[in-house]
Amino acid sequence: MRSLWLDRPLPVHPPLAPGRSFDVVVVGAGLTGLTTALLLARGGVAVAVVEARHVGAGTTGNSTAKFSLLQGTKLSRIARRHTAETVRSYVKANLEGQLWLLRYCEDHGVPFERRAALTYSVTDKGREDVHSEFEAASAAGLPVELLDDAGLPFPTSGAVRLADQAQLDPMDVLLTMAVDVVAHGGEVFAGSRVRRVSGHGPYHLHLDDGEVTADRVVLATGVPILDRGGFFARLKPLRSYGIALDVPGEIPQEMALSADWPRRSLRTAPVVGGVRLLVGGAGHRTGRAESPAASVAELTTWAGQHFPGASVTHSWSAQDYRCDDDLPAIGPLLPVPGGLLAATGYDKWGMAMAVGASLTMSAGLLGGDIPEWAYPLRPFRPGRVTGVDRLVRNNATVAARLVADWAKPRVHSSDVVPPEGAGRVELDAQRPVAVSTVDGRTTRLSGVCTHLGGIVTWNDAERSWDCPLHGSRFDADGEVLEGPATCALHRLTPEDDAG
Ligand SMILES: Cc1cc2nc3c(=O)[nH]c(=O)nc-3n(C[C@H](O)[C@H](O)[C@H](O)COP(=O)(O)OP(=O)(O)OC[C@H]3O[C@@H](n4cnc5c(N)ncnc54)[C@H](O)[C@@H]3O)c2cc1C
Ligand code: FES
Repeated sequence: MRSLWLDRPLPVHPPLAPGRSFDVVVVGAGLTGLTTALLLARGGVAVAVVEARHVGAGTTGNSTAKFSLLQGTKLSRIARRHTAETVRSYVKANLEGQLWLLRYCEDHGVPFERRAALTYSVTDKGREDVHSEFEAASAAGLPVELLDDAGLPFPTSGAVRLADQAQLDPMDVLLTMAVDVVAHGGEVFAGSRVRRVSGHGPYHLHLDDGEVTADRVVLATGVPILDRGGFFARLKPLRSYGIALDVPGEIPQEMALSADWPRRSLRTAPVVGGVRLLVGGAGHRTGRAESPAASVAELTTWAGQHFPGASVTHSWSAQDYRCDDDLPAIGPLLPVPGGLLAATGYDKWGMAMAVGASLTMSAGLLGGDIPEWAYPLRPFRPGRVTGVDRLVRNNATVAARLVADWAKPRVHSSDVVPPEGAGRVELDAQRPVAVSTVDGRTTRLSGVCTHLGGIVTWNDAERSWDCPLHGSRFDADGEVLEGPATCALHRLTPEDDAG
């Protein structure tokens, strides 16, 4: 599966050769990593971006890419758990990010479109959620309107609307920024996975073929790749799906997201010779859906019912992470002073927030003042980690899943290989073995996630092995795709198999 945005030739960046030293290494070339690196390079810092795959390979290149301060029902969810001041800080962080990014686009010829954002409902319960969102957004100072009807080409029971938001092609931004980082003296490397970081400053970043050092390190890797700080235990990995469609009739121009479940997200995307409709949704926790391919089918069916005659041109999926207290976590990786920073927990609303995060992290790294709005979003601010009850509940669920998965009865390994595109976990001498057949090749791997021992499940849409505990994902050959794991699934050679 490939997103509409990634369906283009991509520039090649060189891998990072071991032995180099930098002031700052930013790990990850998504929107957080590239914006942070650009701000640092502009400030005269010797900065390198190190990307495991290619620019935009993670969530940013697969995002729906709405730059909106109205974010479904996010503000009312935050308002339920936090003070009004914290909600205002969250909105301010997004606003600063949105303003900076749109100004950047204007200055660098990156196209974007101004659009209103809608949170709409189709049920009575959804209408109550729309009202709550209207109240939370109004209280946070956003000029929202409450509507009886969303004006979409299907019946709705209400909507909240915020004018003058924006949408764009996220790869246009990332590719422009990657060039700009280099133009300002920074360096961008790709195809180099950071497997481990050791030391306490300078830090040693371990690559496959050696190491580089940095005085400070920014982990812009979605979920932070290091277990120091225990972020993985505070985050839920959430996967969801997108499809692009050619639609014969009119397409609604506004960026819409349902308040009701199942969530449905809509926006337009300009393409050569016309406009496509993007439909998103069908989300679930990573590694816990029976059939991710059925999620794509669910979206396709919905789009066909609501936009008759629509035909799918692209389908894709991606994941993002939600913190146990609904706020993003931006700042030091550890509660003690040090040079490791991370930004995560954007909860599928990371476009404006990634830029807000970069503004605050780079301000700190350049010796400037941290903006007021950034304090409530710091990972270890006093009071923040006291959501221990939720943390314990989340981890109790994870632990229960781990135990249940190990105890689950499984078929014993046999010579019957899975059909093309299928995978299953078998037992071989009490060890879980992940067997799949992709492109006519059957591969046997350890079924045990290299992060903390979860048992992987087969993703029939992406043909990957996904871990239901903290969301690590591996391709059919076992190499890491994303998540907190940094080491591949162990490949079982015929000798291993025999043992
Ligand atoms: C389906 C979907 C739709 C979304 N739609 C919207 C939207 O409309 N509006 C909005 O505001 N937000 C949206 N989001 C959220 C938003 O896209 C993300 O929050 C944001 O893109 C995250 O950017 P990032 O740079 O932090 O992470 P990423 O873009 O994931 O970048 C992380 C990078 O780090 C690299 N990496 C990871 N580990 C290593 C390693 N060990 N070594 C080197 N590199 C590594 C990865 O390959 C990746 O390229 C959506 C999310 C999803 C899942
Ligand atoms: S992602 Fe943590 S155990 Fe697999």
